[in-house]
Amino acid sequence: MSGFTIINYQGSKNNLDNFIYSNIEKYLPSGKTILDIFCGAGSVSNIFRTTHKVFANDVETYSYMIVDSILNQPDYTAEPNFFDSFSKKYNRVSKQLSTPIIEDIKKEQTFLTNLDADSLIKLYHNYPTVWNNKKSPITNSSLSVEALRKEKGYYLFSTYFAGSYFGIEQALEIDAIIKCIHSQKKQFHNSLLHL
Ligand SMILES: C[S@@+](CC[C@H](N)C(=O)[O-])C[C@H]1O[C@@H](n2cnc3c(N)ncnc32)[C@H](O)[C@@H]1O
Repeated sequence: MSGFTIINYQGSKNNLDNFIYSNIEKYLPSGKTILDIFCGAGSVSNIFRTTHKVFANDVETYSYMIVDSILNQPDYTAEPNFFDSFSKKYNRVSKQLSTPIIEDIKKEQTFLTNLDADSLIKLYHNYPTVWNNKKSPITNSSLSVEALRKEKGYYLFSTYFAGSYFGIEQALEIDAIIKCIHSQKKQFHNSLLHL
């Protein structure tokens, strides 16, 4: 039970799991149902999920996604070669998504290999994002939120966070993973997003 963490935030009961379990468990006949209202990051749901039936609620979508992945864990073993086919699909999707920005990805790889920080900074400075509205090969236009929406591609991280929070290739990898997850059965989405 200890050591469970998905996100850290103020108010999480994560560090109190043993204390909570030992003080509540004695009042709960096994098989009883627990309602974890305002479940946040789901640490309380996680404490009891194997011993009791747990329902959880929270107004925040992020919380729903986390706690859904904790309480409704899909059985991946029931799907033959699930992670093998996921990985093959990922390779195809990342290749396809990277096509318009492949030159920038190659430059980034070279600058990183050569430890060429000045060129890397320049590359990131010139890389088109929704923040600088530079002309992008992804939309074939100046990169704006509207142009991106019309494109309907999976380029969220590569157009918002590449060159700042993430490298260009890293951002593309995240976009490709999200695209692959969204192509799976709906009941796998939240679980896969948290793996
Ligand atoms: C302190 S956190 C809960 C911590 C949680 N027990 C844990 O260990 O992670 C409080 C939660 O209450 C949720 N919340 C606040 N008002 C709410 C409401 N009216 N309905 C549902 N959830 C609400 C917030 O979104 C937040 O996630």
